[in-house]
Amino acid sequence: MVFDLASVRAQSPGRRIEWYPSVDSTMTEAGRLAAEGAPSGTVVGADEQTAGVGRHGRSWHSELGSGLYVSVILRRQFPPATLPVVTLALGLATREAILTATGLACDLRWPNDLLLQSKKCAGILTVLESSNQRPAIIAGIGINVYHSFFPAELSAIATSLRIESGCIHSRERLLVELLTSIDRYCDRLETEGRASILDAFARASSYVSGRRVAVDQDGSELRGTTAGLNESGFLILRGDDGASRLIVSGGVRPCS
Ligand code: BTN
Repeated sequence: MVFDLASVRAQSPGRRIEWYPSVDSTMTEAGRLAAEGAPSGTVVGADEQTAGVGRHGRSWHSELGSGLYVSVILRRQFPPATLPVVTLALGLATREAILTATGLACDLRWPNDLLLQSKKCAGILTVLESSNQRPAIIAGIGINVYHSFFPAELSAIATSLRIESGCIHSRERLLVELLTSIDRYCDRLETEGRASILDAFARASSYVSGRRVAVDQDGSELRGTTAGLNESGFLILRGDDGASRLIVSGGVRPCS
């Protein structure tokens, strides 16, 4: 389906939106624009990515015309210590956008996987671009929208809005809602502070408390039960050995 960029631009006055039929990764293009000084809120999107990137060096499956693949440049008044919470705020924004545009309520797996029926339908990658005098956060968001199936290696863990709802949802509507929600959650973080985002995340996620999980840390697997978020947005894991540990990067998965 051809992406109706004109309609999104008309609904997003004053916002710079660059759209590509195909690109290696929108993160690369957004990073280049950020280094050139592009303003906060600038969006880079593509119908297809030939080298989409995910967290932990993984690739992001970016089939032509099937997903929403965007990177948003953010120049906000967040102190550097707030960065992990920005990631959580982006997860909440993406959840809100999907709910508003489709009626589907995603679970959030810390720090920022969006799940439907325990399978991933969207993911978020945040990187800092600091080569310009004004550093920027590049928020990369991928949402599986139209996919009707996934390659064998992903089919057990990935899903799409179409698979879960049986409906075709508009990528344009999703993007407009996503940009509105990102602005709203970033404003909330700036005005109300970290605690407000941490509370909202804990309410929206089944993973924050009382969940049995396994996490890969420094080459070994930790198992335990989640026990909330600390004030920086890191996950507290009460290990099976009784010790509490802070999980600072993802790779959390359910276990028995
Ligand atoms: C993850 O869950 O591992 C993060 C996935 C992030 C994917 C998006 S798609 C748009 C942007 N461009 C990329 O190459 N990656 C992000």
